[in-house]
Amino acid sequence: MTDPSSSGAPSERAGRVQESKVATVTSSKDRPQVHIAAPARALEAEAAAVSQPPGPPVMELRDVSVFYDDFEAVRGTTLPVGQNRITAMIGPSGCGKSTILRTLNRMNDLIPGARVSGTVTYQGQDIYAPGVDPIQVRRRIGMVFQKPNPFPKSIYDNVAYGLRVNGFKGRLDDRVEEALTGAALWDEVKDKLKSSGLALSGGQQQRLCIARAIAVQPDVILMDEPASALDPIATAKIEDLMRELIERYTIVIVTHNMQQAARVSHYTAFFTAEVDDKQVRYGRLVEFSDTNRLFTNPTDPRTEAYVTGRFG
Ligand SMILES: Nc1ncnc2c1ncn2[C@@H]1O[C@H](COP(=O)(O)OP(=O)(O)O)[C@@H](O)[C@H]1O
Ligand SMILES: [Mg+2]
Repeated sequence: MTDPSSSGAPSERAGRVQESKVATVTSSKDRPQVHIAAPARALEAEAAAVSQPPGPPVMELRDVSVFYDDFEAVRGTTLPVGQNRITAMIGPSGCGKSTILRTLNRMNDLIPGARVSGTVTYQGQDIYAPGVDPIQVRRRIGMVFQKPNPFPKSIYDNVAYGLRVNGFKGRLDDRVEEALTGAALWDEVKDKLKSSGLALSGGQQQRLCIARAIAVQPDVILMDEPASALDPIATAKIEDLMRELIERYTIVIVTHNMQQAARVSHYTAFFTAEVDDKQVRYGRLVEFSDTNRLFTNPTDPRTEAYVTGRFG
């Protein structure tokens, strides 16, 4: 199997793709084919323009399937997560995007009946190995949800929450300011830190949730349709913020909005739902590649049909 992570520096953004090797990966005879277009090699000059050349993937899914009781929601997903990059997961409703996202920080552990098979690694370590504390996993790999969900507490206490839970001993005020600044919210709230987080607008609440997530200085931030409840202006702010956040963090975003994936992400994974020969419906990854390539020159006809709006 061709490992997309070991094929050299990925091209930075749309328009920089110079060449791309396309490998067809067939893992076993009963598993569907997945097209993985390896990240393209940037020209030397362009590689120098990449602020932080990515190393090996910070996280990897290998042959990950997720079951809810007897129902296999997603089958055999293999996917790298590039460091300091934005990876988008797109596909029609019910194809398992949120389910796969939750495997990355063991949020499925909290769902009764959910079971994960395969391997999920963070910095090379299996996060499902015996002895791994899911709380520690979630400290390194934070999450932002679709509906902004501030706690019914002050703005300050929302951001300080994770630090207090973790017994943070440093200067709390500084860390709260840093997180709110990092979430592009500080200027809007610095004079009302004691006001309720719930009194903010939807877009501000979502940035507050991002501030809460980054306050504990995670490595990876998972975002499940973070802008789908927001208006276009608040959405644009979240997208700008994502571009800033990748200086320090790695982001994986689920979005049903293809334009959003095309605008913000470096890599895109396209999932769909299929019916197998036993008439069982399941979700699967169809294609993973450089975002530019996935949208302009997809390998799989199902990806092409989706990105050109012919289904989904
Ligand atoms: N907590 C759950 N219990 C049982 N089935 C679930 C649960 N969450 C999701 N599913 C099912 O798993 C499949 C994938 O769901 P989901 O990951 O939410 O898809 P997506 O995010 O792509 O819309 C769907 O068939 C959905 O009904
Ligand atoms: Mg979902």
